[in-house]
Parts: sequence; C-alpha cells; structure tokens
Amino acid sequence: MSPFAHITGWGMTIPERVLTNHEISKMVDTTDEWIRERTGIRERRIASEDQTTASLAVEAALKALRVANLSPSELNLIIVSTSSPEHIFPATASLVQDAIGATHAGAFDLLAACTGFIYALDLAAQSIRSGSINNALVIGSETLSRFTNWNDRTTCILFGDGAGAFVLQSSEEPGGILSAVLRSDGSGGDLLSLPAGGSRHPASLDTIHKGMHFIHMNGREVYRFATRVMAQATREATEKAGLKIEDLALIIPHQANRRIIEAAARSLEIPLERCVINIDRYGNTSTASIPIATIEAVESGCLKRGDRVVFVGFGGGLTWGAVTVQWSGPILPKRKVYPKSYQIWVKIRSHVRRLIRTIEGIIWGSNFPEG
Ligand code: ACO
Repeated sequence: MSPFAHITGWGMTIPERVLTNHEISKMVDTTDEWIRERTGIRERRIASEDQTTASLAVEAALKALRVANLSPSELNLIIVSTSSPEHIFPATASLVQDAIGATHAGAFDLLAACTGFIYALDLAAQSIRSGSINNALVIGSETLSRFTNWNDRTTCILFGDGAGAFVLQSSEEPGGILSAVLRSDGSGGDLLSLPAGGSRHPASLDTIHKGMHFIHMNGREVYRFATRVMAQATREATEKAGLKIEDLALIIPHQANRRIIEAAARSLEIPLERCVINIDRYGNTSTASIPIATIEAVESGCLKRGDRVVFVGFGGGLTWGAVTVQWSGPILPKRKVYPKSYQIWVKIRSHVRRLIRTIEGIIWGSNFPEG
C-alpha cells in the first residue's frame, strides 16, 4: 500500500512593522473606512530592510522543523512557493536549503501566484505517496511590499509580507493530504501581473519609467473570477476525497478580500464561522496566507488532530486550486533536532563549501586546455 503524506510541523514569521490603513491614507487618496468596507483589511506587516523572502522562509522553516521534531538534514525536498522570489535565479528554495543546512534535500521554487502553496502541497504529497521521498518542507514566503506601487491606491492597500511553512512526512497511518484540485486559465494572465524583469520585458529604464516592475491588477475582474472559483474548487476537492461539505471542520481560504470569502461561504451554504479569516491583521500575503491562517487556527485550538479541512486559493495566472486535508500533527517523538549553535555551524559549513569550490577552481582551472 502506498504511504500517506501527513502535515507534521508548521511555523510562521510575520515582520514586526505594522502598516495601518490610516498610514496608507496619508500616502494615497483613500480612507481606513473604504479599505475596511471593501476588503476587510485593517493593517498589514511590512518586511524590514534586512528581511527578504528567503530570510522569512528560513525562520518559518526552522520553526516547522522543530514542531515536527525533524532535523534539516533529514529533509529530502524543499519547495518554496513565492511570487516575490529573492532573484529570478538561483531559486529562493536553494538559499533556504543552504541556510538551514538541509544537506540531503533537492530544492526548487514554484510560481503559481497566490495558489502556489496549494500546488506545492500537492506536489510534495505526490512525491511522498509515490514512495520516492519521506520528508518534505513546503514554504510560502512573500515580500510583495517590494513589488507594490505605493502610489497606486487600487493595489497598495491589499498586500502584506510574511511566511508560513509545513513539514510533510510519510506514514502508513491513513490521513494527511487526501485530495487536490489544481487549475489554470492563462487567458486571464494579464488581469494580474508583474510585467517587467522577465524575458518579455527585461528590466530597462523604460520599464522602470512605466512602472512595469510593480504589480498590475484589474481588481474587478479578479474579484469576479475569485468568487466563481473558490466555492467550485472547494466542492471538487471535497468530493474527490469522498467527503461532503458538512464533514469539513473548517475551510481555510486564501486571504485576498473578506468579501470574496463571504461570497464563497454563501455559495457553499456554510456559516462564515467555519472559514478562517485573519485578513484584517495581515492583508493579502499571497502564498503565505493559507499556512499563516492554518497555523493561527491550530494555535487557537480551532483546528485539531483528525479534523478535516479544505485549503482553497486563487491568484495570478490565472490559477486556482484546493486541497483536502485530515489534520495530523507530529509523528516523531520529542527530541532536540538542532542545538542553539546550529545556525552558526550551518553558516561555517556554507563558507567552507565556498572555499573548497574556490580551491577546486584553482586546481582544475589550471588543467583546462588552452585556447
Ligand atoms: N480608496 C478609495 N477608492 C478606491 C480605492 C481606494 N483604495 N481603490 C479604488 N477606488 C475607487 C475606484 O477608483 C473606483 O472609483 P470609480 O467608481 O470612480 O471608478 C471605485 O473605488 C470602485 O472601484 P472597484 O475597483 O469597483 O472597487 P471594488 O469594490 O471592486 O474593490 C478591490 C476593489 C478591493 C481591489 C477588489 O476589486 C478586489 O479585492 N479584487 C480582488 C483582488 C485580489 O484578490 N487580488 C489578489 C489576487 S491573489 C494574487 O495572485 C496576488
């Protein structure tokens, strides 16, 4: 029998800096009342200058590994889903792999905008269920504040920074990730995009002048699309898992707009209390929003071992998807997975590897044939 993929550890990081609606109303023509009424957002967190998508991801990852009682060197795979990667390449996931000392893990980034975490969870679960790996780390991490046009009131009110991570592990015990539905409609790609910096529009003075390095969005169209697909994907994933909507303890939706979540709850004919909502405090943290909302639900006691939940998201691409999960928790006994000095050793290890590469370069470089 193929193994099951359980979520056994979780961790989140939120920058300290709070940016309130009131502060935004001093930057663009908007009001706290308008933002709260139209989106449900009161405030969001903004990364400090020394925080990046990778550094937030590393913090969340180490917390998740500690909950799972798993050492970084026991990981086989790291997927970072992000729309605000550290670079186009190398992958943010490779930087995380080095920073946490995951010496036996493959690592790659996954880009499916805000749906990325759902895609990443399913990929990691499939790898575990196929028997090819045992332990995976899935991280959603964002610093979208770096790609936000702070003069555009239609987008700058929405986004926030943060990271959330899950550890997934193989077990013979039934449960964990039960089903997934992943969808895309690229014909709507222009509705939500960051147009410049890729091969179509490489960064230039012109792209910067035109603001093409910022997020561009047709809010009304994205809103219409989101209200249509959220309930539909939730139903499909639930049915695929052999469950009914009534069997779900909670629905944990992507936090983009409170009104979108309310519309999905109405369509599913469930009380809003069964949907986890924390958009008021964090805004839209893109791929980090579902893990952050999940972790808050666990920590407040709303999500317990054995509960069945659906994670559902949508975003640029256009993409959307849902995953049905039977919530697990740690499967390994409590143990010290890394000492306090661990991160110092990991840094030394990284420097030693660079040094070895330099020495190898000198030795092998001199052996290259001339001309
Ligand atoms: N303050 C005041 N007025 C505003 C603001 C603002 N911040 N923003 C827009 N307005 C104005 C508009 O200019 C418009 O004025 P007009 O009627 O004179 O033209 C009016 O308010 C209404 O604008 P709408 O766009 O119709 O406002 P709406 O109620 O749709 O709310 C919003 C806009 C909040 C952006 C909404 O459309 C939305 O949430 N859409 C979904 C966005 C989303 O989820 N994006 C993330 C996807 S996930 C990812 O992949 C990153």
